[in-house]
Amino acid sequence: MADRTEYFAPGMNRKTKILVADDDRFYIQIFSDLIDGLGYECISASNGMEALEKIRACKPDILIIDVVMPGMNGFEVTRRLKNDPATMHLPIVIVTSLTDRGSKLKGLESGADELLSKPVDEAEFRARIGNLLKVKRYEDYLLENGKKLEGEVVDKTVQLERAFEKIRHGYVETVYRLTLAAEYRDKETGGHIKRISLYSRLLASHMGLSEQAVEAIFFGSPMHDVGKIGIPDSVLLKEGSHTPEEFELMKTHTTIGGNILRDPDSGILLTAKEIALTHHERWDGNGYPRGLKGDEIPISGRIVHLVDIYDALRSRRPYKEAFDHETACGIIDSQKERFDPAVFKGFHALAEEFRVLFDKSAMEEPDLRKTTQL
Ligand SMILES: [Fe+2]
Repeated sequence: MADRTEYFAPGMNRKTKILVADDDRFYIQIFSDLIDGLGYECISASNGMEALEKIRACKPDILIIDVVMPGMNGFEVTRRLKNDPATMHLPIVIVTSLTDRGSKLKGLESGADELLSKPVDEAEFRARIGNLLKVKRYEDYLLENGKKLEGEVVDKTVQLERAFEKIRHGYVETVYRLTLAAEYRDKETGGHIKRISLYSRLLASHMGLSEQAVEAIFFGSPMHDVGKIGIPDSVLLKEGSHTPEEFELMKTHTTIGGNILRDPDSGILLTAKEIALTHHERWDGNGYPRGLKGDEIPISGRIVHLVDIYDALRSRRPYKEAFDHETACGIIDSQKERFDPAVFKGFHALAEEFRVLFDKSAMEEPDLRKTTQL
């Protein structure tokens, strides 16, 4: 536990200054002697305006001010100082020869911290000044340490954000690379995986899903075909069309993916599992593996179903050539019954962004559109 006197350290670094504002030189001298006797520095002002100027210039620790002065009186000076954030913490003692209750109330209402009556009692003066200085030094300490603490909190927050960003980046990289390992056998590319997450994020965000849901779809969608790792090469890599039996086997990549991602601990992996299981389900109920219909299919699966088809149409595959954007959109339109109407509508609203995203990616992977013209 820190010694309490340490709280007063900021005030101990320099000599305490007390400003006395009074138009009566006699009282200025009395206060000056009292202040000297306490070992503090006395600064004087003979009217309200001069007091305000000296407060700005000298930054005293306490102001002792007479009420009745030519020009601006003590109440008005006090009000101004207490309304200014730069000086509102300056302790103010109003000194008056007025003894009536109304003047005392007016002094307190103007914001004064203490009231003293003329003639001044030396012992009372010492006690009141001592108390005000204790409070002032404690406030100075809080102010100084508050600023320091604020700076430290900002630094730590920036450090935490950087650390989180690194972890996030590492997570995405790991997902892309592990998924790519599975996709490698399918002759698909890392570009396809990345585009699926980018399209999905665009669409999910456009449809007003929560930030958390958008992020889960962004990170979970690249794993949609992870189950293909369980499909034999002879079927997965076959050039040309599959037999009905081979197609049935291909369909199991959804349930295999669901098994790989079973019992997830995080929201992202839960969404990844949901997408792996449902990205071939159709709104009209004619999809697989379970033939789910309408909103029985989770929104993540409905979104990835459409974006996966768009990207597959635009890309060259062993069994098909690449289509341009308009052709891909035309094919999607011709099969609109398989898509959630809201997802379908969102896709059309964002179609231009999908085109740009694919074209930008294709510039980096020209093989995607080997047989089509840019
Ligand atoms: Fe798939």
